[in-house]
Amino acid sequence: MKRKLTGNLVDSILKLKREKKAVILAHYYQIPEIQEIADFVGDSLGLSQNARTTNADMIVFCGVHFMAETAKILNPTKKVILPDLYAGCSLADSCPPDLFREFLRKYPEHVIISYINCSAQIKAMSDIICTSSNAVKIVESLPREQKIVFAPDKNLGGYINSITDRNMVLWNGTCEVHDIIKIEQVIKLKEMNPDAQLIAHPECQAVILELADYVGSTTGLLQYTIKSNFKKFIVATETGILYQMKKASPEKEFLIVPTDQTCSCNDCPYMKLNTMEKLFLCLKNESPEIKLSTNLIERAKKPILRMLELSK
Ligand code: 13P
Ligand code: SF4
Repeated sequence: MKRKLTGNLVDSILKLKREKKAVILAHYYQIPEIQEIADFVGDSLGLSQNARTTNADMIVFCGVHFMAETAKILNPTKKVILPDLYAGCSLADSCPPDLFREFLRKYPEHVIISYINCSAQIKAMSDIICTSSNAVKIVESLPREQKIVFAPDKNLGGYINSITDRNMVLWNGTCEVHDIIKIEQVIKLKEMNPDAQLIAHPECQAVILELADYVGSTTGLLQYTIKSNFKKFIVATETGILYQMKKASPEKEFLIVPTDQTCSCNDCPYMKLNTMEKLFLCLKNESPEIKLSTNLIERAKKPILRMLELSK
């Protein structure tokens, strides 16, 4: 009965998608059913590139709010909808526009690089946007003597500082999902599995990144597990990525780093707000919809286009 219900839901979503000439874009942290029904699954950079070039009439964004907002900024004539308007992001929330504007007054000579996990208002105050897959390249595109403010993720910013030997000023923000992953748990898993490689998302704390065999975006992590000759991986990121890892390499073993015994804290509570039922309803009602003023779109678009240009 449950399978039949799910089957009906899948058929209804696909029918609505065809009728409305919609494209479904999904992030790797979405539940497996959503990843399966999506036209494209990717990391923040891949999703932005897809949103910009799609010729569908409507973009259904299965991810979090800042991602859908970025799609709207890059392709403003399309209707952009998302299953749950409350799918936010602790990193984006850690950088309120008023406080950031005040903070920037102290750094008038600095170039502002913002991680894509921020609101449209923060993007509009930035010179260049980056994602976890191109952050190093973007920072290194600037002269060594250039002063830089990096926001909002202090873990990603610190990681870039360490590998590019820069001293960027960091906004004090973190992702609640990655920042809670504890080094003690990582070490315990490494001791129990000496044959495993440790791979980590750069939103994790520095002590974990220093120990990792590979650090990268969700797409980077997935590709690494596909290409590597290793058979076992300790994965320090959100649980959703395991679905594609197991699908691509069923013969390999993936161990997610547990947070503690009492919660599944490395399930992003915002990403996991999206469900198949909400996906169906948002396609049916064409709502909730991302709406932004033309002025904000124009100001936020410039630093994103600069990123896309530098990522080629
Ligand atoms: P990626 O761009 O690596 O997919 O990261 C998005 C994100 O929100 C990580 O927490
Ligand atoms: Fe934001 Fe962290 Fe969730 Fe990514 S995992 S969407 S950074 S709260």
